Amino acid sequence: MNKPFSQSCENNKKPILSVIESLWTGSAEILEIGSGTGQHAVYFAAHLPHLHWQPSDRGVMIEGMHMWFDEAGLSNIRPPQILDVELDPWPVTRFDGVFTANTLHIMSWNHVQLLFHRLGTYLPPGGLFVCYGPFNRGGQYSSESNARFDQWLKRQDPVSAIRDIDDLEQLAVKQEIELESNVDMPANNRILVWKKSPVAGIQF
Ligand SMILES: C[S@@+](CC[C@H](N)C(=O)[O-])C[C@H]1O[C@@H](n2cnc3c(N)ncnc32)[C@H](O)[C@@H]1O
Repeated sequence: MNKPFSQSCENNKKPILSVIESLWTGSAEILEIGSGTGQHAVYFAAHLPHLHWQPSDRGVMIEGMHMWFDEAGLSNIRPPQILDVELDPWPVTRFDGVFTANTLHIMSWNHVQLLFHRLGTYLPPGGLFVCYGPFNRGGQYSSESNARFDQWLKRQDPVSAIRDIDDLEQLAVKQEIELESNVDMPANNRILVWKKSPVAGIQF
């Protein structure tokens, strides 16, 4: 097997780092969902040595990302875990925050719903869920190129689609999770920073 490579990871890793470096400033365990090639994990773990980075993805992706991790030799990357968001329970349940890039428009809407449901269970009070990718708002595409990308996605797999932030907020609120910030990124992408209520689960 050749080492997998994603050009888009190379293009977006720096702008993403410039946002997440101010979100997770102290020692923390970060679960990445849908790590893909593993390039983001290597770059973020190298630049944010105070974090422990836990990569994960569906089983078929694990061998490829191992090649990146073996080469990088970083002690703050945990061994990658097979984690499909539909698993119940998840194989990793102890973390302080969650990162994912370019996954919500790939997985089915049912899986997006399960992801938020699991975050309701596992994300600790006050924990952040940081989500990079293209998103719609109020049923509108943010650009012509995103509209074309959405059509392309649906031709690849009818369950894939750019998600609407309004729909995601409806899922989040049921899990005591709020959209804390919505950051404009290059190439018509965004970073959505979601925060679990610091008093989630506490009965008053
Ligand atoms: C477009 S790739 C993005 C990979 C990487 N995060 C990046 O930014 O390059 C989408 C990733 O989501 C993963 N994925 C799709 N459905 C998933 C699910 N149900 N649970 C976990 N990961 C999933 C895929 O295996 C794939 O690695």
